Amino acid sequence: MPLPRAPGVARVRDARRLCIGASLLVLMLLASACANVPQTTVLPKTEAAREIQYLYVWIFWLAVIVFVGVQGALLYIMRRYQYREGQPLPEQVHGNTVLEIGWTIMPAVILVLMAVPTIRSIFLLETVPVASADGGTPMIVEVVGKQWWWEYHYPEYGIVTANEMVLPVGRTVILNLTSDNVIHSFWVPQLMGKMDVVPTHVNQIWFTPEEAGQYFGQCAEYCGIQHAQMRMNVVAMTPSDFQGWVTRQASPVPPPAGADPDTAALVAMGAEQFALNGCVGCHTVQAAVREEGKIGPNLSHVGSRTTIAAGILPNTHENMKHWLEDPQAIKPGNMMPNLHLRPQDVDALVAYLHSLK
Ligand code: CUA
Repeated sequence: MPLPRAPGVARVRDARRLCIGASLLVLMLLASACANVPQTTVLPKTEAAREIQYLYVWIFWLAVIVFVGVQGALLYIMRRYQYREGQPLPEQVHGNTVLEIGWTIMPAVILVLMAVPTIRSIFLLETVPVASADGGTPMIVEVVGKQWWWEYHYPEYGIVTANEMVLPVGRTVILNLTSDNVIHSFWVPQLMGKMDVVPTHVNQIWFTPEEAGQYFGQCAEYCGIQHAQMRMNVVAMTPSDFQGWVTRQASPVPPPAGADPDTAALVAMGAEQFALNGCVGCHTVQAAVREEGKIGPNLSHVGSRTTIAAGILPNTHENMKHWLEDPQAIKPGNMMPNLHLRPQDVDALVAYLHSLK
């Protein structure tokens, strides 16, 4: 038969549990505060994203008032009307007109307080600007959602690129979003809200980059097996750096400058393998010339991108090598088959692709 426990033991155990619980809570809060959160929604970096943040903060504080009011009233009532020994039955009421009108009007007032700024923001963000924030014309980027990567066309410059969108700081950009397969959603949280990317239809979204830097995003509409790996990033740079990028992208790919003879030979071999293995059937390697492969990402200047495979891997020698060795192992279900390339051809192809700056 178990021995009866002393009340002191239970109190010590409760205190210990409380301590562990409180420590875990503090640890969790600290961990969430320290985390590197490139896709955070609460550090907006454009006016369009700030507009959404204002709503978020406003509705948060309204919710805090509702929470404190409801929980406070609950605690007060629980304490005030708690059953006590020998207490007579309280007064029995059937309906209270003042209370009922009050709790019908209060939520309606709260909903109006939420709806008015929300509708204002919807209209503001839906109105595509005719002029750029810098006084010129907005830049258009045509975005096509693929399974599972993003293609960007810059009609003004005749540039086609993939996954990494380069933009100048200060100039408003309008994204014309469409898809050639299923519905996706384009979302770079620090720059703008989500927008659906729908086949046979163009949706528009706009923003003005304010700070140079790299901003990460994620497809936000379930679109198949690699939905979670359909990432994108926006690189905002100064207008002069952007002009330099445009000039490089719009130029034919130059031969690797200053490369030693061995590297140059490897690159030349890679170029040869690129043609021999039928890579050109799916990929273009020449900006502004589009009669080559259009199924896969345009690889002109792929060496200058920071990531590969739609933002999931840094664009390093090793990662590119693993991708070429077996794209299906890295991103199952994607359109690129395992070509069973010979190891020496993989090395040459990596050297060639990384020479495309
Ligand atoms: Cu594209 Cu999810």
